[in-house]
Amino acid sequence: MPSDQNLSKDSILYFGHLEEDHKLRKMLDKKLDQFLVTQKLNKFPDYFWGAEKYGLEKSHLFKKLKSEEQTQVLKQLSQMNLALSWYIERAAYTHGAKMILASTTQEEKMFYCQFAFEEAIHQREFENMMDFIPEEDSHWHPMVDVLSDSIQFGERETSIFMVQVILEGYGMYFYKALMDSCLHSELKKVYRRILTDEADHHGSGLILSEQNILSEKSKQEIFKYSQKFLEAIQISGELIKSIESVHGKLSKEEKDLLIEEIGYKRNLEKRIKILKDLLKRVDHWGLSSMLEDAGSFEVKELS
Ligand SMILES: [Fe+2]
Ligand SMILES: [Fe+2]
Repeated sequence: MPSDQNLSKDSILYFGHLEEDHKLRKMLDKKLDQFLVTQKLNKFPDYFWGAEKYGLEKSHLFKKLKSEEQTQVLKQLSQMNLALSWYIERAAYTHGAKMILASTTQEEKMFYCQFAFEEAIHQREFENMMDFIPEEDSHWHPMVDVLSDSIQFGERETSIFMVQVILEGYGMYFYKALMDSCLHSELKKVYRRILTDEADHHGSGLILSEQNILSEKSKQEIFKYSQKFLEAIQISGELIKSIESVHGKLSKEEKDLLIEEIGYKRNLEKRIKILKDLLKRVDHWGLSSMLEDAGSFEVKELS
């Protein structure tokens, strides 16, 4: 299947909605409701994760902010976590659709029908916890670009490896950490439920990747997207941006101190190690050593 036909970034991430009162929308809501563990919240907390999630309780600069400014920072960071989760699920059902078309057996096609349906449910579960609609400009994260590019441009094998092995493998760690530190019982329940499905999605990626014989093209794509993924998990931009939005621009010294006090580098090293261990377990053709040689496992200079 030509991988880039009919797919665009807009069709994977940034598509619109039907009118509120559209009959199909009502029909879908009714269907989805049968499978959800939550309902739309009628009261939204200011934030779902506290300062401890980010180590901010150790930052002098954060502690000096007024209480309402601290709330504002935590609110923005909660929105970023939810928006990233929402975009991941949104892209995942289009991955499922691509795989239905690209698969050649009934079992694979049926599996991906189920896969796509579960991803749609996940997105709705997150939506029920959100009082905002993510926007391309304000809620963008580099991880969604890697995800969307591998779906749009990657060979079938590349998409399976990037979405189901890497993203969903790492995503389980990411979602578990969000679940454990979440302050809200309903959202905790959502992450717990989704994690069960993601374990199957990741598991199926492992099974299929073991069978796949990769073309040179797929290997090159996987190497390129894995490098980008490793860069994407290291960005510190959203944390700095949310603090600057209430404090004003931070000097280099203030940024360095903030990053030091919250233990950000240790956190990045941990994330990289998780990905490195994951890649080692699934590496049949030398991907880990290619990434090692390219310096991709080194912690980048923080900006
Ligand atoms: Fe999902
Ligand atoms: Fe998934």
